[in-house]
Amino acid sequence: APLLPPEFKSCGVAYVGDDPLDVNCCPPTSDVIKDYKLPPVHRLRVRRAAHRLNQANVAKYKRAVKMMRDLDVSDPTDPRGFSQQANIHCAYCNGAHDQVGHEGLDIQVHFSWLFFPFHRWYLYFYERIMADLLKDPTFALPFWNWDHPKGMQLPGIFDEEDSPLYDPNRNQDRRPPAILNLALNSTIIDPAQIISNNLSLMYGEMIGTPASATDFMGKAYRDGDAPPTYPDGGTSEKGSHTGVHAWFGDPRNEYSEDIGNFYSAGRDPAFYSHHANVDRMWTIWNDIPADYPKAITDPDYLDASFMFYDETKQLVRVKVADCFNHKKMGYDYESVDIPWVRSKP
Ligand code: C2O
Repeated sequence: APLLPPEFKSCGVAYVGDDPLDVNCCPPTSDVIKDYKLPPVHRLRVRRAAHRLNQANVAKYKRAVKMMRDLDVSDPTDPRGFSQQANIHCAYCNGAHDQVGHEGLDIQVHFSWLFFPFHRWYLYFYERIMADLLKDPTFALPFWNWDHPKGMQLPGIFDEEDSPLYDPNRNQDRRPPAILNLALNSTIIDPAQIISNNLSLMYGEMIGTPASATDFMGKAYRDGDAPPTYPDGGTSEKGSHTGVHAWFGDPRNEYSEDIGNFYSAGRDPAFYSHHANVDRMWTIWNDIPADYPKAITDPDYLDASFMFYDETKQLVRVKVADCFNHKKMGYDYESVDIPWVRSKP
């Protein structure tokens, strides 16, 4: 059977490994739950590369994050607030939510075929909340284009200390212009070499290594299964995705907060742009010809579901099968050169 969405009322303590955390990351509860239907799309939002954003779009994004941060203060229980949005990741990834009907069995949305769908829905509502707060239906999240040499450092918009997009809890040695090293290989210091290694790593996880859809997406995860662990994840999740988290997590903090641990990752505004690029990788992989079928048709995958608050603060239940077409969800990615497709070793 498919994984069921969590019961928010039963949300409990979050953990890192076996250590209980003293943060409460449980969402507000609600008695009304609606099955979510994708609204009709009139115009696509276009997610653009963060390092290429124009001034107007940067200003808009700052304003949106500022408004979300303000909600934290005016009403800490408003599910649209920045902390509440960050807590979603903690609750779904650090054991605060149990599987319904399986008390004590944590939900874990990483390391399985649910990785891409969960994060797509998460960003979808995050973006819609911002668009709604801004009263701008064209608002789109910028993506951190870390698979392109020009994006292989933290985008400058996240590194201005007085900006709502800044987070002090990052590895200070890796602020720009430090070059992102996806393989976390500290013995290589030549920038050109790091960049070319990053491109080969991208080629490998996107094209060279996967021999099946689940190799790329992650293994099956169903109702009643034990929480999946790292080896069960797909090539992209375990590769570039984890690389970016580990690269910027702050080594001065016990659990590499913020972006270096699940429970705190969403506190870093760069997290959402990182994941927009992870989501973009899913769209690109879908279009790359391969000698295995890309679609996973197992009903336990299609019918798996999650729970989120939408931009009207309504609690909604969403299905994996409804997130396969990002354009039907109302957004697309600006098209930029993809150099790693030519980086076959
Ligand atoms: Cu849910 Cu990049 O982690």
